[in-house]
Amino acid sequence: MRNQWSGKRVLVTGGCGFVGSHLVDKLASLGAVVTVIDNLSTGNRSWLPSGVEFHFSDMRRGALSQAMIGQEFVFHLAAHADVRQNMTRPRKVWSNNVDATLTMLEVMRAEGVRGLAFASSGIVYRGVGSKETDALDADSIYGASKIACEHLIKSYEREGLIDAWRFRFAGLLGPRYTHGHVADFVQALKEHPDHLEVLGNGYQRKAYLDVRDCVNGMVEIVDTDSTGAYNLASGETLVIRDSVRQICDIMGLSPRVTYGDTAGGWPTDPPTIELGTRHEVAARPLGESLGDAVRWLAERAGRDAERAGRAGRAPERAPQPYAKSRA
Ligand SMILES: NC(=O)c1ccc[n+]([C@@H]2O[C@H](COP(=O)([O-])OP(=O)(O)OC[C@H]3O[C@@H](n4cnc5c(N)ncnc54)[C@H](O)[C@@H]3O)[C@@H](O)[C@H]2O)c1
Repeated sequence: MRNQWSGKRVLVTGGCGFVGSHLVDKLASLGAVVTVIDNLSTGNRSWLPSGVEFHFSDMRRGALSQAMIGQEFVFHLAAHADVRQNMTRPRKVWSNNVDATLTMLEVMRAEGVRGLAFASSGIVYRGVGSKETDALDADSIYGASKIACEHLIKSYEREGLIDAWRFRFAGLLGPRYTHGHVADFVQALKEHPDHLEVLGNGYQRKAYLDVRDCVNGMVEIVDTDSTGAYNLASGETLVIRDSVRQICDIMGLSPRVTYGDTAGGWPTDPPTIELGTRHEVAARPLGESLGDAVRWLAERAGRDAERAGRAGRAPERAPQPYAKSRA
């Protein structure tokens, strides 16, 4: 059956990332003609299916204008997505998120492209966003950058230049998961299977959703709903202490786990994130998504070690801000 994406020319910014690559898979399966622009700062080109036109470039460069020619819809996902690197690289986060979004809006205007879906975050409520009309607030540069992007997008919409859907995601889990507390814990446990030191008291409770349900939800809402802001969440939350237990079970480990005494893992970490939604999407159980993320990370670590061994060097280490390593 024909759908509105079949044969449609769609640009995905950040299409080589965790969420972007699942979205590209979804759009390609619907018959869209997909173009990706990505600077591969955190993405992986090998996650793109064949047949996708790829521009290896930063969003803020001229290649974006080339990539935009002839497009009919844009999914804008490229961003500095790791909320915890706020204060170490504030300008980088702001420029990568806000400047890049403004550049993109101008390029869309120049090329006459109207349709836009933007990846915002539940962090824009600084905690509990029970409905999309709740007040936006931020106490992190990442959160402030997402709110600024949303306001920029609304301004272009009010001028009648674009039609935009702004999606405020819960935390996402699933295959190709690369950053966040689950990745930190898996890596710390691979290095020191006998102990794990967790930042914060472990009672942090946050809304999560499977990445595959998130991309299905975005496409479904663009298909069926009017423009505006949409929370994308499953209604389920994960408590850090429970996810530590599940990760240890999946990895077959019984480490000594110690917790801190602060409510959040770092100064701008909201201890609770809850998201209500006005458009519920079909969501698989979170345990399944967490399991898929852990197994994917464990297998990837094995592949990285094997590849590094062949090349005669130590495997690359990512930063571990959610778990302390005492080595
Ligand atoms: N993963 C989550 O839990 C989550 C939650 C809420 C919101 N989001 C948002 O969803 C989007 C995707 O996040 P993700 O988890 O897939 O992150 P990711 O880091 O895996 O993906 C981001 C992609 O954008 C690319 N990129 C970054 N800056 C770029 C630039 N200036 N020019 C070109 N390419 C650039 C990266 O190389 C990467 O492929 C982001 O906007 C993020 O803020 C993610």
